[in-house]
Amino acid sequence: MTNSLRPVPVYPTLAASTLRPSANWRRWFPFSEARGVWTFSGRVALYHGLPLLNLPPKSVILVPNYHQGVEIDTLLAAGYQLRYYRVGERLEIDMADVERRLDAHVSALYVTHYFGFPQPLASIRAFCNAHGLKLIEDCALSLFSRDGKQWLGTEGDIAIFSVYKTVPLPHGGFLATRAGAPSAALDGAPFTSTLVQTMDLINHTLRVTGWGGVEQSIGRATRTAKRMLQWNRHETIQSGGALWDSRLLGHAASGSVKGWIRLVNRDRVIAHRRRNFRRLAWQLKGLVPYPFVDLPAGVCPLFFPIMVPDKVRFQQDLAALGVESVNLWDASHPSCPADLAAEVAHWREHCLELPIHQELQECTIDRVAAAVSAVWQQHHSHARRSVVVENAGLEAKLVSMSM
Ligand SMILES: Cc1ncc(COP(=O)(O)O)c(C=O)c1O
Repeated sequence: MTNSLRPVPVYPTLAASTLRPSANWRRWFPFSEARGVWTFSGRVALYHGLPLLNLPPKSVILVPNYHQGVEIDTLLAAGYQLRYYRVGERLEIDMADVERRLDAHVSALYVTHYFGFPQPLASIRAFCNAHGLKLIEDCALSLFSRDGKQWLGTEGDIAIFSVYKTVPLPHGGFLATRAGAPSAALDGAPFTSTLVQTMDLINHTLRVTGWGGVEQSIGRATRTAKRMLQWNRHETIQSGGALWDSRLLGHAASGSVKGWIRLVNRDRVIAHRRRNFRRLAWQLKGLVPYPFVDLPAGVCPLFFPIMVPDKVRFQQDLAALGVESVNLWDASHPSCPADLAAEVAHWREHCLELPIHQELQECTIDRVAAAVSAVWQQHHSHARRSVVVENAGLEAKLVSMSM
């Protein structure tokens, strides 16, 4: 398969270009944290990190109106009450709104760094100290990201990471904590789960690197392995996804994850993601609206978000041109009040996330830009034609009424 026909994956694969064994990973934040804990995924890290905060039972945690949903499910499953606060136009925390929502029942503030972009940690920390609140940093989307020189996740009383979103792993979450290690002992990930998610990752890698024949053989091997283990996808656990599955909560990451992470070169991950983000921004400038115009120093972006009128159709048309994208976060959690949910409804309806990860070369980013711009033009000329047809229909109606 030629480069131009290969699908552009939205998540990194195991392709060799960014995999260089490194003995250094234990020195990288958050893995450098003496009390850090590997978990099956980010939500598991959150669930087991919460007891370390010693919050009064059933006390209130302030959470943002723009959320994925599983982090909210996790906080509720842990027995806390939630109160939502507002984020602004660029998803920045609205501290005045947070302050208005304080009362004696509030014990913690939950802060999400969206797409790897930092919330203002220094002022948030000062606010939490002034009001006696614990700070929970959600870094599920911001592994290896910094606010200037400060790593995201170093200010919170606990911070959670979803490691497999940034680097190619079958699963893996991480809990960084200033408050002691979790008391619950977690079981390793089920063997079948690790096996099948690893096979998925290998299949994914072969598909996008053009080794389709090998992929088919691996696909057959995966199916045989599943039959031999009499395994069915719903019978074991999987990382990722927006659905709540309490079975995940008892599991750590498998030992193999710590082997895979050695193959990651953190500095390359950061440098390539930044280079790709900037290149895509430059290519799409003036063509397609995108909310994060600047890339501040230290940010390690997860995706490149764009705002499109019909994101489901846009995603399908992009996929037809071989470019994958992410369309998640389309629904507010049912516990979020309707007025606050409505304030971020445009993000949920219009935000589509494009690939910029470490493995993509500059020529692939140019392909992404060309595909996005082609789909945008196609949608807009279609929209213009519909307006002309609607206007023509209206004119015909007016003419017939005036006769
Ligand atoms: C903001 C946020 N927090 C937490 C999580 C949970 O992470 P994981 O899927 O690794 O459990 C997610 C998952 O997408 C998320 O988007």
